[in-house]
Amino acid sequence: MPPSVAICAPLVGGVESVISDRYELRVHRGEVLGDERAVSDFIGDADAAITLLFNPVGETVLRSCPALRVVANCAVGFDNIDLDSARSRQLWVTNTPDVLTDATADLTLALILATTRRIVEADRFLRAGRFDGWKLDMMLGRGLQSKTLGIVGFGRIGRAVAQRALSFGMRVVWTDTSSVVEYDLPAERLDLDQLLRCSDVVSLHCPLTDSNRHLLDEERMRKLPSGAFVINTARGPLVDEQALVRLLKEGILGGAGLDVYESEPSVEAELLDREDVVLLPHIGSATEETRTAMAKLAVDNVVAVLEGHDPPTPVVRPTLR
Ligand code: DGY
Repeated sequence: MPPSVAICAPLVGGVESVISDRYELRVHRGEVLGDERAVSDFIGDADAAITLLFNPVGETVLRSCPALRVVANCAVGFDNIDLDSARSRQLWVTNTPDVLTDATADLTLALILATTRRIVEADRFLRAGRFDGWKLDMMLGRGLQSKTLGIVGFGRIGRAVAQRALSFGMRVVWTDTSSVVEYDLPAERLDLDQLLRCSDVVSLHCPLTDSNRHLLDEERMRKLPSGAFVINTARGPLVDEQALVRLLKEGILGGAGLDVYESEPSVEAELLDREDVVLLPHIGSATEETRTAMAKLAVDNVVAVLEGHDPPTPVVRPTLR
């Protein structure tokens, strides 16, 4: 019997055939597998699973799927997977880094521009028939030149955002909890507190962990300069959405650009009503090229493990091999 692979939601770019040519394949095409019971029922006795960021993979899944050798997440983030349980089960866990760096950094800049220049609001204004002629004081936004962008998380995506922001004439400061990586950019490292106090725009690019939930809570966001903008293309729970709404209402913040949400796919109702917020449906990596590359990398990871090799982009590796 060939090994079997369970793909928890359809992939793109025709890459599923790479699996079906070699292995037994099943693909879940129905309603989202959004809880552990549904995920484990679907994966069952498969040898490998490709998961997406909305498929929770915790102790329950890993206990109920005894044949699993690899969980290949089709995302760079892996906060949907319980890594400790995967380690104790001696599994491979893989993700899809690098291939989505540029797409996500591009979208971050799009959100920075959309919020500071009121682009979505201006589009709504025109469609509502309110554009009755050019005026000097119409739809004034904020310029980015000489403003400070604070980047929280200076990994691949954070650095790609820095590069783009520098070309817009922004000053870039950054913070990271890990000892970063060499980089060749005119950007200054600060601690989080210093960064918040000087950032006209703060943009999050760190993974979600148990310790950084509500990294931007009310107290921290109050440290931002008056009228600052909050941009989040990382993970929703990094920002306290209730506090964000309060600070927007008070006029302490100038606006927010969000691609991710605390209780995704639900969006805080009060955010939906605000003109100073741009809300996107988690499309940071959503280009045809990037999503195809992500799907291909997830498949490559699975094939490598099933053929007895190390996968190209491991997050967790079995230690007893
Ligand atoms: C990821 O990869 O973690 C993004 O959130 C989706 O591209």
